[in-house]
Amino acid sequence: MIELKEVSKQYQDRCAVDRLSFTVQEGEIFGFLGPNGAGKTTTIRMMTGLLTPSEGEILINGINISRHKKKVHSLIGVVFELPNLYTRSTIRGNLSLFADLYGVTPQRVDEVLHSLQLEERQHEKISSLSKGWKQRVLIARSLLHKPAVLFLDEPTSGLDPNSAAMIRDYIRTIKAEGTTVVITTHDMQEADELSDRVGIMHAGSLVALDQPRQLKQACGRRELAAEFWQGERIIRECWPLDEESTKEQVYQLLSGGQMISLHSREATLADVFAALTGSELS
Ligand SMILES: Nc1ncnc2c1ncn2[C@@H]1O[C@H](COP(=O)(O)OP(=O)(O)O)[C@@H](O)[C@H]1O
Ligand SMILES: [Mg+2]
Repeated sequence: MIELKEVSKQYQDRCAVDRLSFTVQEGEIFGFLGPNGAGKTTTIRMMTGLLTPSEGEILINGINISRHKKKVHSLIGVVFELPNLYTRSTIRGNLSLFADLYGVTPQRVDEVLHSLQLEERQHEKISSLSKGWKQRVLIARSLLHKPAVLFLDEPTSGLDPNSAAMIRDYIRTIKAEGTTVVITTHDMQEADELSDRVGIMHAGSLVALDQPRQLKQACGRRELAAEFWQGERIIRECWPLDEESTKEQVYQLLSGGQMISLHSREATLADVFAALTGSELS
């Protein structure tokens, strides 16, 4: 659905994105994970035609984005951080305005109001909404023309946990309806939960690209974390899950009645990031 070939972006003397090449498959949720300054926003802006690459080529559904901006715009929806809603107008008013611009029927406005569960408050002004609700309106707006690909830059950043979870649910629903989704996030939990594949960005380059599970498995050993009594003291220890000696330890503590808790622990995407780059994710 999307193909980047050796795409770079230079800002004056700084290279924000350095020869990125990858593809996004139709129907997947593709997550860009990386710390602030990694180049996620620059990349997603180039993928939507808002920024022109200094070098390289981007194809959406086989169409070159720099050469056919209009054609590509009809294929994509974007939800970016800058809130650009008409705050003095209502939810419905904002959507209707865009529906007119895109030549979309009023029926479609009702459809997106319904699918983002915005109906009950559709006549309220944007200025009275919380950030989470505004984000839902922005997503609804981006879906009006039924784009094949939806791009979201940090869609849950700054939201409370409930609103963030809700936005993630909507993103899953949008994928289930057949839309390809590209999101950026600096939240490894979010990238892990939501993405079919994750591209890990660091200093303008993609340092890994795979399914979250594969990335975590390739990174590290699975561990067992135990908490147990040793006389009067509580001890915490971690052992490799797959080793003989671990079985022995666990068996002894369990049969001696000393075990307080026992959890299996796999590598996180933050561990993967640290292993690949030698630095912290956030
Ligand atoms: N308009 C700009 N002018 C100059 N440098 C920029 C501009 N936008 C971003 N940068 C720089 O490019 C790098 C990547 O930024 P960005 O793509 O925003 O990263 P992210 O979204 O991962 O936080 C950063 O070092 C940032 O300071
Ligand atoms: Mg960003």
